[in-house]
Amino acid sequence: MAQTPSVLGTPRHRVDGKLKVTGIALYASDFKVDRLAHACLIQSTIASGTVIEIDQSEAERAPGVIAVLTRRNAPKLQALPEELSANGTPGESRLPFQDDQVYFQGQHLGAVIAETFEQAREAAALVRIRYQPGELRTDLLGLADQAIEPRMFGGRIKLQDKRGDVDWVWANMPQVRLVNETYSTPIENHNPIEPGAALAAWDENDHLTLHVSTRGVDLTQKVVASAFGLPIENVRIVCPFIGGHFGSKGFSWSYFLVAAAAARIANRPVRLVLSRPQMFDSMGQRARTVQTIGLAADENGKLAALKHSTLTHSSMIYEYTEPCGNLTRLMYACPNVQINHHLVHLNYTTPCPMRAPGEAAGTFALESAMDELAVKLNLDPLELRVRNYAEKDEFDQRAWSSKHLRECYDRGAAKFGWSSRNPKPGSTRDPEGRMVGWGMATAVYPANQQPAAAKAILSNDGSIVVRSATHEAGTGTYTAMTQFVADTLGVPMDRVQFELGDTQFPPAPVNGGSWLTASVAPAVVAACAALRDKLISLGVDGPSAPLSGQARNDIVIADGRISSAKDTSQSLSFSDLLAKTGNQTLEADGSAKPGDSYQKLAFFSFGAIFVEVKVDPDLGEVRVTRVVGVYDVGKILNPLLARSQLLGGITFGIGMALMEGTIPDMATGRMVNANLAEYHVPVFTDVPPDFGIEFLDVPDPNMAANGARGLGEIGIVGAPAAIANAVYHATGKRIRDLPITPDRLV
Ligand code: MOS
Repeated sequence: MAQTPSVLGTPRHRVDGKLKVTGIALYASDFKVDRLAHACLIQSTIASGTVIEIDQSEAERAPGVIAVLTRRNAPKLQALPEELSANGTPGESRLPFQDDQVYFQGQHLGAVIAETFEQAREAAALVRIRYQPGELRTDLLGLADQAIEPRMFGGRIKLQDKRGDVDWVWANMPQVRLVNETYSTPIENHNPIEPGAALAAWDENDHLTLHVSTRGVDLTQKVVASAFGLPIENVRIVCPFIGGHFGSKGFSWSYFLVAAAAARIANRPVRLVLSRPQMFDSMGQRARTVQTIGLAADENGKLAALKHSTLTHSSMIYEYTEPCGNLTRLMYACPNVQINHHLVHLNYTTPCPMRAPGEAAGTFALESAMDELAVKLNLDPLELRVRNYAEKDEFDQRAWSSKHLRECYDRGAAKFGWSSRNPKPGSTRDPEGRMVGWGMATAVYPANQQPAAAKAILSNDGSIVVRSATHEAGTGTYTAMTQFVADTLGVPMDRVQFELGDTQFPPAPVNGGSWLTASVAPAVVAACAALRDKLISLGVDGPSAPLSGQARNDIVIADGRISSAKDTSQSLSFSDLLAKTGNQTLEADGSAKPGDSYQKLAFFSFGAIFVEVKVDPDLGEVRVTRVVGVYDVGKILNPLLARSQLLGGITFGIGMALMEGTIPDMATGRMVNANLAEYHVPVFTDVPPDFGIEFLDVPDPNMAANGARGLGEIGIVGAPAAIANAVYHATGKRIRDLPITPDRLV
């Protein structure tokens, strides 16, 4: 029986690659509309206080200005309902123009709308604002005594939690087997290539079309409709491409509401694109974390107690807690665990998820502390982790859906050559005199599934369009979904067009938490399977059907044709089948949601990362010269895309470890390095030439449809600690505060 060979699991180039490199792909700000006007934000220049007066007279007289939007003439926005503003739906629950309070530097107070962007920017600089300054809260450590104890992250994860009795162990354990240290990570900002961008156009019937760079078209639709008091169907969100997001772009940010309000008062379509500096105050950031880790081990190197306490901050207008302890409860076997988070409200912009929120910063602390414990116990760091291998999720007492972390450790160590490591810090130099260090860490990331839906449409030319309101952030959604359609319907990939990023398509979740493929693919498969059933019905049902009388089970669908297994020479193309049965098109819907196993099992992806660094003894410069990462992320659907995800994730980790950090000025609440010249992200030369990424490629039998678990964020997890541990091994210096810039090493 001739079946089309499966395209899932094979290396496939991005189906949208050519559109991108030729500039044909349309991003939010690229759409062409008639009478387009341009907006530039008016932002607060203080971080705390009250607006007394906005003098816009000069701006109004500036060339090309169409209107100036402020609280005075803004359309009245309605407060978001609980489901869109409660903890768990990050973003700014306080909408723009609600009051005259200033809560952080750069808060949106309005916008100037002009014929060109340059005119809008020029005029915005002419707006004069008088303030009554208020109390300024910028000092996380100084205000720690005012911290609150937040209860939940995302409505699901407990931020204060314990099992066993940590304190008893602490009081009774000899000092030699204790680690108790504080680690910190700075404020970090999302810096995708495409900044936030919105293009808002109202029609005469109060319908708004908003092109916006978002990884949550459905959520954005709800936020915008709700804020403007419109029926949901009056708002259409469109976003076929996202130029990266780093974790931003999923939530309710004020800039796209300002764009929609500006379009309303100008009575013109309005484009509002954030500048690079505005990426530091207008769409989230990772808050600074100060984390204390306590580890106690017994005489065999087994963890007896584990404490993880995080101090972090949110804005004055939202409670978002970087959940650093969320993996700590389950990464290692340990009978006594205590996790706490403390949150201080500061006059900084509202934080939000950024590249493995909690996991990235939290495992920097935990995996650094594990390295310190290994040194104290005179144990190999890898051996310490193996001795504390978690055979189940000890937090919820659940079995893992599938875990092969041991194999990741073994393969990674072998490939890296870990066994030849001299444990003594500072023991190795390269021929140029640079200090060489090796470090490793464990990587874990949750594997979630969210409800999603899709629609499949076969046309009379045999082409297939499948739609879902999901997103392409550059990670390969178009390609992976096309592979699923091709396999499910037995057609070549070039016959398939996958469409996404539009609220007119069947609903899909925010693209986050590394769950996109696990959520949307089962819906796509369901829609295509339903279409397949309909094709078979057309083929066999009724006396005049082309394959009348054949049993459904005998029908073969392959290569875009339908036939009976008994006689594949008498096959029909899909187009002929439609023509012969008098159909122009054939449509089917499908949806999927997490099954019962999601309650019973613990779904996580795993990995082991090994890193070599070389440190210049005079300059303190750290270069990552070699990386080996071995990952257990379920079935690999497309090795090219999968490698690219991990390459990107680990590169994020290099940035977090060595260069990224937003520096607030405590006296003003301004971010002093809000630009890419002074906020460093890794570039090509920062990535090692020797980048060994491997996948176990073991399908998870409990994951829906395909056995694949998410791999978007696991790359950053563990990487900063592996680098910091390698720096310690190279130099003997334990750097507990990121980033590890040269000044910390000389
Ligand atoms: Mo991730 S920053 O939770 O999408």
